[in-house]
Amino acid sequence: MSVARAALRGFARPSSSSTLATTTVVPLARRLATAAPTKPPTAVVLMNLGGPKDLDAVHPFLLNLFSDGDLIPIPFQKYAARVIAARRTPKIQEQYAQIGGGSPIHAWTERQGKMLEKRLDELSPASAPHKSYIAFRYAAPLTPDTIAEMQKDGITRAVALTLYPQYSCSTTGSSLNELWRNLKEMDPQEKIQWSVVDRFPTHPGLVEVFARHIEDSLKTYPPEERDSVVLLFSAHSLPMDIVNRGDPYPQEVAATVARVMDRLGHKNPFRLIWQSQVGPRPWLGPKTDAVLEGYARLGQKNLLMIPIAFVSDHVETLFEVDLEYGHLAKEKGLTGYKRVESLNADPLFIEAMADIVKSHIAENKPVSTQLPLRCPMCTNEKCGESKRFFQNQRL
Ligand code: FES
Repeated sequence: MSVARAALRGFARPSSSSTLATTTVVPLARRLATAAPTKPPTAVVLMNLGGPKDLDAVHPFLLNLFSDGDLIPIPFQKYAARVIAARRTPKIQEQYAQIGGGSPIHAWTERQGKMLEKRLDELSPASAPHKSYIAFRYAAPLTPDTIAEMQKDGITRAVALTLYPQYSCSTTGSSLNELWRNLKEMDPQEKIQWSVVDRFPTHPGLVEVFARHIEDSLKTYPPEERDSVVLLFSAHSLPMDIVNRGDPYPQEVAATVARVMDRLGHKNPFRLIWQSQVGPRPWLGPKTDAVLEGYARLGQKNLLMIPIAFVSDHVETLFEVDLEYGHLAKEKGLTGYKRVESLNADPLFIEAMADIVKSHIAENKPVSTQLPLRCPMCTNEKCGESKRFFQNQRL
């Protein structure tokens, strides 16, 4: 008789002594399981701006966006936000309609979170299990809903992980201010202890994954033209009053670009350019559309777009870069206009994120050296309070 069959037989007809063992051991095991304190997961909260999941969600998304005084401080904010959101909704709905009816950012972030959980459990068993949550700034799941879910799960230790590689007070800063405001109300006894990954512009894993995506795209050009393809690193622009307030974003984006170019061995010419400017205020340039027109005039044909400040696809890549600027490029005869793949769920990107979070947990410091320092021209007291709150976490 084979060992397997013998084993099966054993299960089918237990001896009287094994029956006795089962009846005494199982209740004991059950008692132990109930008595043993279960360790709550370490929460990893992925913070990003978010996007409307369908066309009906566009208006609430815009309303939240224009109501954010940390992003766009405007007089009579609440009233003005309602007017601007209502006015812009049809145009923005049209843009989302053209990319499939909604933003893919939630699906990508959820996937990134699940992959990250799994990898962190392997890399950092001491803080396992890990559970990912999403806190979007302007679309569901919003910060208060995420905190409520974490409280329901009994979370006591959380890492706020920005998905903006480069820090700006109008993106990561706004998300942290929103988190702090809600925690004050929802967790006054500070049962959850937080630490913050606020930026990772030059992490070698991030640099590597950007470099590989660029190399993959360069291979799609004819070999004789490959080295002359112009690399256009395009990042979301900032209004100049935010830049001049001392926001670190432009320097950090430039730092990412410099590291990626070093990694690529400076084989191609490149520029850092800025997209998505709206409204009459002066914005950081050169503007992406003006750059395309300029290079078309100067006789360039092969331009490779690299969204360097986003980690997943959303309207700024799928609509703006691919469709809007793509149309302009075609019109101007830029026959070699292309875009690199976004990082999305590339395992190499997840590996980088897992390394960032693992090292951060091991370091056991609530914030980076940079986070407590306010912009030199900051007059927003919320920034100071929010930064102090995270800095004073007791881990
Ligand atoms: Fe930068 Fe307040 S605006 S710290």
